[in-house]
Amino acid sequence: MAMSSIDYREKIPNNVNLTEDRGLRRALERWHPNYLDWWADTGPEGSQDFDVYLRTAVSVDPKGWAQFDHVKMPDYRWGIFLNIPGDPDRRIHFGDHKGEKAWHEYFGRDGRDEGEALLERRAGDDDNPRILSAFNEKTPDWLSLFMFTYFTDRDGKFQLCALAESGFDPLARTTKFMLTEEAHHMFVGETGVSRVVQRTCQVMNELKTDDPEKLRAAGVIDLETVQRYINFHYSVTIDLFGAEESSNAATFYSSGLKGRFGEGKRDDDHVLKDGTYKVLHLVNGALREVEVPMLNALNEVLRDDYITDSQGGISRWNKVIAKAGIAFRLQLPHKAFHRRIGSLAGVKASPEGRVSRDEEWHARVGEWLPTDEDRGFVASLMGRVVEPGKFANWIAPPVIGVNRQPVNFEYVRLG
Ligand SMILES: [Fe+2]
Repeated sequence: MAMSSIDYREKIPNNVNLTEDRGLRRALERWHPNYLDWWADTGPEGSQDFDVYLRTAVSVDPKGWAQFDHVKMPDYRWGIFLNIPGDPDRRIHFGDHKGEKAWHEYFGRDGRDEGEALLERRAGDDDNPRILSAFNEKTPDWLSLFMFTYFTDRDGKFQLCALAESGFDPLARTTKFMLTEEAHHMFVGETGVSRVVQRTCQVMNELKTDDPEKLRAAGVIDLETVQRYINFHYSVTIDLFGAEESSNAATFYSSGLKGRFGEGKRDDDHVLKDGTYKVLHLVNGALREVEVPMLNALNEVLRDDYITDSQGGISRWNKVIAKAGIAFRLQLPHKAFHRRIGSLAGVKASPEGRVSRDEEWHARVGEWLPTDEDRGFVASLMGRVVEPGKFANWIAPPVIGVNRQPVNFEYVRLG
């Protein structure tokens, strides 16, 4: 398809004057064909001609941000050029520039080059992978996808919330809008895992067993395996927040670029030169809390806010299990479990946070993280169910469809 055949002004929902903004249109004309290539390379095989029920944003008001319709994938348009209206009098509310007027100018050439480099990196690409490793992990089955959207999209929520506080106003506004996307992704993850758990509990009660082998033979995912998937996705995701102590994090904050989660609602001086924060270190073979300057610990502050938020879904999944009368409870592993970034990297801690010796770790890691056998079993369940209203054996039907559609709604018209 020739680039010039696409009328971006018509097809891209936007409120950023795309018609007149030639710079933005040029950037888009370069970016869009790459986006289509990416979808053709890495999207589901043979899916280009299906009408798929997809959500996009056409405006930033409450009615416009989630519009659904059937569309062929190559015709899909992201509502990425939408921005909530700016307040010209907005003030920077944290860091060394607190009280000054917010910045409204866009980045120059440096910013554009950085942006280009971001688009060249692809998740899982051997030659040019994403910088953050959680985004390169394989997502080969639906349980992985649900875990990714519950845990890893939630990292997105916290990063975006911190950037939504930015003194650089275009960044603050665009991230606020992107948060509406993240909310839907996390909903997919939370309800997905919940439905898996519900179906497993149903079969546990039918067969009156908690034996993983018997449950697997009945075609459902045992709760122990669900727990191992949680342990994996949670631990690789909390790595995304970076090192506990970071002078970059201090600089981003003090310069007014990146605030804390809920910065505006916090009751302190919003400069943080005096405060301290407790971070975990391995000291003489044991985990110890160490007080460090607050400004340097802002990655850890954000990670702790994330951890608190992550607990919500775990509690709701446990309610599903409790309601089925089953004693098993899912839990978040300890912060020190399976870390690869920061002061806890390489610590051989159990999910309960007990530091173990190498031999014990190797002997028990198969109880704590998904094994090849677990992944093979989950993969074996991933058959195709195409009849509207029918669901795979390993997952309970949803209470209601996406966009309040009936449960037998035809989301994909297979033609
Ligand atoms: Fe997301």
